Amino acid sequence: MTSFLLSPEFPDSRPRRNRRDDFSRRLVRENSLSANDFIYPVFVREGKGVEQAVPSMPGVSRYSPDTLLRVAEECMELGVPVLALFPVIESELKTPDGAEAANPDGLIPRTVALLKQHFPELGVLTDVALDPYTSHGQDGIIDDNGYVLNEPTVEMLTRQALAQAQAGVDIVAPSDMMDGRIGTIRKALEANQFIYTRIMAYSAKYASAFYGPFRDAVGSAANLGKSNKFTYQMDPANRNEALREVAADIREGADMVMVKPGMPYLDILRDVKNAFGMPTFAYQVSGEYAMIRAAADNGWLDLDAIVLESLLGFKRAGGDGILTYFALHAARLLKNG
Ligand code: PBG
Repeated sequence: MTSFLLSPEFPDSRPRRNRRDDFSRRLVRENSLSANDFIYPVFVREGKGVEQAVPSMPGVSRYSPDTLLRVAEECMELGVPVLALFPVIESELKTPDGAEAANPDGLIPRTVALLKQHFPELGVLTDVALDPYTSHGQDGIIDDNGYVLNEPTVEMLTRQALAQAQAGVDIVAPSDMMDGRIGTIRKALEANQFIYTRIMAYSAKYASAFYGPFRDAVGSAANLGKSNKFTYQMDPANRNEALREVAADIREGADMVMVKPGMPYLDILRDVKNAFGMPTFAYQVSGEYAMIRAAADNGWLDLDAIVLESLLGFKRAGGDGILTYFALHAARLLKNG
């Protein structure tokens, strides 16, 4: 039998050389993950001693402020730099205009103050959006036709951001997608001497079905019903528009920008990083978490391997960090080698 490998020069390169041994794989590795890359999103609700499971996100809970302190302590131990707070608001407090969002004594400002009192070195991020606070589940104030009004919403969001800054939050993260909100919030922060409050803008936030489990977790799904967020969140078909959104947010004063959701939008993440070179974040959202957990819980995927591979993908795509419900899990895996 004559060989199929006719040419003496075959193969003309051997990329497998570098892959042969662990030492050389480590030596040529281009990207890496560390606990510093993670922001841990958590759900907060009123009460004492509460840790309540979220059915559509196995392994994720809603915490009362006191139990959240234990989570904060774990972030500190594992070196996760930032905790991101999302409120579950009691339905009696929900109104059409979502005014509870701007209550300086509301759940989120109280939780921020408690966290900063116990763990001053842990970064705390708060979401700026009205959907957990509105009786209709939209991120803003609506007219008679249910259309979300831009300017009145920006007013309320700015009051919300100021209440959070007053409570001592480190990063405010507007996730509402109203026009001009970054500039308005930045000016209000500066005017009130909150010159160090960072703004992480949800700049390219798509109208995604991957947010489903989050809406269960904060209890906005039922209020929202069959309505959607297509008049303010971005069309998943669009790519160039994401760059215009990010450009506007940077011009208006964002310190960091975000692309959301994560895994189906890695092309956008790479575009944004290449175009602006800003601190750029990705949000591996609730639906992505639920998919991975469901497959792993069925024994179809190896949870630990998938978690690390999916998070590394964000780094490779240009992300400086990732908001992920796997933050503590991944940090533990990295710590234990
Ligand atoms: C609020 C907000 C949402 C998410 C983060 N902030 C939901 C939405 O826009 O409907 C989604 C996060 C996730 O799915 O994990 N505006």
